[in-house]
Amino acid sequence: MSDDKIYDVPAEWRQRAWVDDAKYQEMYARSVKDPDGFWAEQAKRIDWIEPFTKVKNTTYDPHNVSIKWFEDGTLNACYNCIDRHLPERADQVAIIWEGDDPKDSKKITYQELHDEVCRMADILRNRNVEKGDRVTIYLPMIPEAVYAMLACARLGAVHSVVFGGFSPESLAGRIEDCQSKVVITADEGVRGGRKVPLKANVDAAIAKVGGVDFVVVVKHTGGAIDMDPVRDVWYHEGAAVVTSECPCEEMNAEDPLFILYTSGSTGKPKGVLHTTGGYLVYASMTHQYVFDYHDGDIYWCTADVGWVTGHSYIVYGPLSNGAITLMFEGVPNYPTNSRFWEVCDKHQVNILYTAPTAIRALMQGGNDPVTKTSRKSLRLLGSVGEPINPEAWEWYYHVVGDDRCPIVDTWWQTETGGILITPLPGATKLKPGSATRPFFGVQPEIVDAEGKVLEGATTGNLCIADSWPGQMRTVYGDHQRFIDTYFKTYPGKYFTGDGCRRDADGYYWITGRVDDVINVAGHRMGTAEVESALVAHTKVSEAAVVGYPHDIKGQGIYAYVTLMAGEKPTEELRKELVAWVRKEIGPIASPDLIQFAPGLPKTRSGKIMRRILRKIAEDDFGNLGDTTTLADPAVVDDLVTNRQNKK
Ligand code: WTA
Repeated sequence: MSDDKIYDVPAEWRQRAWVDDAKYQEMYARSVKDPDGFWAEQAKRIDWIEPFTKVKNTTYDPHNVSIKWFEDGTLNACYNCIDRHLPERADQVAIIWEGDDPKDSKKITYQELHDEVCRMADILRNRNVEKGDRVTIYLPMIPEAVYAMLACARLGAVHSVVFGGFSPESLAGRIEDCQSKVVITADEGVRGGRKVPLKANVDAAIAKVGGVDFVVVVKHTGGAIDMDPVRDVWYHEGAAVVTSECPCEEMNAEDPLFILYTSGSTGKPKGVLHTTGGYLVYASMTHQYVFDYHDGDIYWCTADVGWVTGHSYIVYGPLSNGAITLMFEGVPNYPTNSRFWEVCDKHQVNILYTAPTAIRALMQGGNDPVTKTSRKSLRLLGSVGEPINPEAWEWYYHVVGDDRCPIVDTWWQTETGGILITPLPGATKLKPGSATRPFFGVQPEIVDAEGKVLEGATTGNLCIADSWPGQMRTVYGDHQRFIDTYFKTYPGKYFTGDGCRRDADGYYWITGRVDDVINVAGHRMGTAEVESALVAHTKVSEAAVVGYPHDIKGQGIYAYVTLMAGEKPTEELRKELVAWVRKEIGPIASPDLIQFAPGLPKTRSGKIMRRILRKIAEDDFGNLGDTTTLADPAVVDDLVTNRQNKK
């Protein structure tokens, strides 16, 4: 037994929860021994139009990766999230919306959700949006974002939600990649009192890529915007002339439900494609068991619908379960550092799911903003997006949760569709900083650099040995990239890109990415994307970007920049480059530190030695390793001497 700090499962949790430890053991064993039987049973939680006869049909063979679940079944995801609940829940609240301004909030019942989704779907249908068409959604955290997603699902159109913090440039790339003919947006978004010019960004993106013949615009702030009389339609005007009925398209389990762009180690963001049946079964089941959701619970996931967490745990998981899901437009520290806890009290939130970066930022504001609120309604806390350091975990547990609420530290990825490694609150003893044990059907493996599977307590790279229903099916339009990215490094396994330790109790501790992806304030960013933005600037000749430890964001963005001959490394240019990256990608990609470097460490064949750059950024100068094989070993001394924030 390890000497880690352990929090036992409270007795009342063992009793009230869907799953206690004995049941976890039994269900887990069955899920890996008899996946077909296990998942056939679990899939009954979803209403099927045509029942499936086949369950799992998957292969990780790198020559022919193919993933199919419930492949001959048919269903509609929107029907499962709305219509099937209406007989019992028409008047039950589906969405509680809390605006950026604490004065703004509203509640939407399942009946109202149905009517709004049908109107949105009708507007799209009247403009010939059909099964299989791609629709880009670029909206703030307002209920219309859910209406738009579910309207697409209703028609069988494939939604691609783009986070409102992305620039016109990034939006354009995503519209172009999936050839969306339709964009759904709002006049403006508001976060922390600041306006975000969404419609203007859409106009700029379309001017760049074209191909969009129809834009639906939600009036949110009422700010002045340009409307194209042919191309653009106000949502409220369109909704006024359609009915609140729209039939659900019958979809095959393996028909696409959505595309979500995410950063990888190399190249442009990938269009992660999720399909209908397996995704919905998995999102629904994990939402119920991980958050131990029971009828009537008020559940709040603070993510944005622009990320996968918002897809699975604000929209599809909770709504397929007939849950009450809270949607928050604002930020944790506006108007004050008490906002999260005030929202918990105002809406009597029982389950709160947020990110370590928010917890760390609020922790810096001290205990008072928390302890002056009640938080009595809270029963369970969750964490997602990056490793949570034990100090932040303890603060979340003791100060926010008053020592009463278990914390589910949930590890997963855009690619996995739902949570893969996590405690179950009635079953799992907690260790601060560990995501603990695999969810049902998930078989983690830790491998060394050669792909040898390591047993027992060990450290290495995290793979998953076999498929689960929520897994992504392909990279949109590029199946080979899907295979190359995830199934070639360790043939026969899904490689996550994360490093991981397993302790003597079989608990998993995710140590962070081992590739060139970084998690900045819970947002996933490819270092290659930031580099290509930097080198697009006329004064930059070369750039190398790495992550470095950041107190609040988890990781910060550290950019080494070599300027064109004759350019002077000034403070002004530093600011100009930060602003440039914000404009090219979006504010989430702003470099935290830029170090001007006359040269970058390269091998004799010209490959940048990122390992060395990472060590310098981490202030770990003692571990630079062998630098004698570099083309010019002297550049390293220069980089160390000038490490940016040492000055
Ligand atoms: C990281 C977010 C440690 C991890 C759902 C993963 C985590 C990446 C955790 C995926 C966690 C997510 N503990 N690390 N509980 N959750 N990560 O695609 O590095 O935005 O590979 O999905 O976030 O980020 P993505």
